[in-house]
Amino acid sequence: RRIAVIGGGRSDEHEVSLASAAAAARAARGNGDEVVALTIDRDGRWRTDDGEARTASDAVRHLTTCDVALPLLHGVHGEDGAVAGLLTMLGVPFAGAPVRAGALAMDKWATKLLAEAAGIATAPAVLVRPGERVGAPPLDLPLVVKPTTGGSSNGVTRVAIADAYRPAIAVARAAGEDVLVESFVTGREVDIALFRDRDGALRAGATLEVGVDRDGVFDRARKYDGTAEFTVPARVAPDEHEAVDRAARVLYGVLGCSGVARFDFFATGAGVVLNEVNTTPGFTERSQVPLMYAAVGLGYGELITELVEAALV
Ligand code: DAL
Ligand code: MG
Repeated sequence: RRIAVIGGGRSDEHEVSLASAAAAARAARGNGDEVVALTIDRDGRWRTDDGEARTASDAVRHLTTCDVALPLLHGVHGEDGAVAGLLTMLGVPFAGAPVRAGALAMDKWATKLLAEAAGIATAPAVLVRPGERVGAPPLDLPLVVKPTTGGSSNGVTRVAIADAYRPAIAVARAAGEDVLVESFVTGREVDIALFRDRDGALRAGATLEVGVDRDGVFDRARKYDGTAEFTVPARVAPDEHEAVDRAARVLYGVLGCSGVARFDFFATGAGVVLNEVNTTPGFTERSQVPLMYAAVGLGYGELITELVEAALV
């Protein structure tokens, strides 16, 4: 098989995506597949791994020579359905979310509305539009302020005192258009991943618990400086595991996911609360999703094979 592995991208998760794509390309080659590594630079320019700059039409030509694509772009212009749209128009099968699922999950407000409609709890929240006047905090403190379409905690601030609210909005606005203001949820972060396999079954990895700092935060630095603490499987009671698994399956269906998606929850004393859905989750060997599947006996290379084969059905 000839697989296009796409990484980089224009979002502020460019570096993470490069790491995800490099790991996946290595594994695919290890599986005996031929890899066409395509990188999107920060300025949106595509290039192949021979380092030669290419035009978008060159990239399209490369893509159409491949049997399947593995897009590993995180954030806007990648995870949001943009690249799924390109691949769909080109008729190249791909392992990942279709346009609709990517676009809905990229928008944390849209995800929240859908989740609530499906009976899945989310944190109380207020949306702040571009240009909207910012007054006093609209919810009880502490709260979390984040760009609606952000990733990797970029632009996210936990606000514990009222004076910190307006600066937090400014930080979030610098990273995205709409801003989501949410009540801070006290609980343990418990994540689960799902993919639909070639037989149509939804396969879950082990749950994963994220170690947080004293304020209950898992921030960008901890995500990527090597100090992230993951416990796999998460130390959850059977009823919490059941609730997380059930809610993730509902969301996978409601959003219309394909490929692997990671569903991040908070386990609180009063049930599970959805934080967000990642339709192109981090995919380095140390990222959550590969760890979650390794814990149920599916190694990194095998996971890539499963995703590629499901995309080719
Ligand atoms: N947005 C990062 C890559 C993640 O969810 O893993
Ligand atoms: Mg995310």
